[in-house]
Amino acid sequence: MRLRNVTGAKEAVALSRFVVQEPETKKGNWQSCFEKEQPIHIEIGMGKGQFITELAKQNPTINYIGIEKYASVLIRALTKRDEQEIPNLIYLLVDAKNLCDYFSEGEVDRVYLNFSDPWPKDRHSKRRLTAKEYFGRYDKIITKTGFVAMKTDNEALFDFSLQQAEEAGWKLQRVTRNLHQSEYAAGNIMTEYEEKFSALGNPIYRLEAYR
Ligand SMILES: C[S@@+](CC[C@H](N)C(=O)[O-])C[C@H]1O[C@@H](n2cnc3c(N)ncnc32)[C@H](O)[C@@H]1O
Repeated sequence: MRLRNVTGAKEAVALSRFVVQEPETKKGNWQSCFEKEQPIHIEIGMGKGQFITELAKQNPTINYIGIEKYASVLIRALTKRDEQEIPNLIYLLVDAKNLCDYFSEGEVDRVYLNFSDPWPKDRHSKRRLTAKEYFGRYDKIITKTGFVAMKTDNEALFDFSLQQAEEAGWKLQRVTRNLHQSEYAAGNIMTEYEEKFSALGNPIYRLEAYR
């Protein structure tokens, strides 16, 4: 994602009641951040938050945590959010490579990865959020019946993800190379990137990975 620096974003994010500060202190205790104790789903790289906001509104019996690395991006979600009451949605401003510092074993029921940065150069492949090193992190924090759901318009990233999930010992389900024309299209919530790239005619790839 091309990043435009937003003046004051860091300060605004640090003061927001929707962004959990010092998230390592919540490890094993995330339910205390919500009104109700219920399963936790996270989105890594939530961007401006369209997907997770809609998901949280549609599913009040799930607690959602949106994770974003950059304050200049997260601030966009906060600006929109201020007008809306969504008790089951909070955010973290962290780098997902440190996920295991914030969540304890089996604390998360589902991980969403939407239009993750492709990191096209081979030497950066370990930074891709579906590299097997990341599946190792997800393995530690996801419940036994939980799963990782990924969407992208990038075929090379998708093929890499299928291969890495299998190498990491995960089982693939509900795999499609054209989500919008598939049997899984019903109920699909579009992300900002998904709207942009599908409008250009790009097919959307989707997978779910289970242990
Ligand atoms: C290409 S954008 C996609 C945004 C949104 N998910 C969508 O589909 O519209 C990828 C987002 O992931 C965030 N991101 C990339 N690597 C990350 C990481 N290691 N931890 C947390 N967020 C990350 C980026 O800052 C960016 O906002």
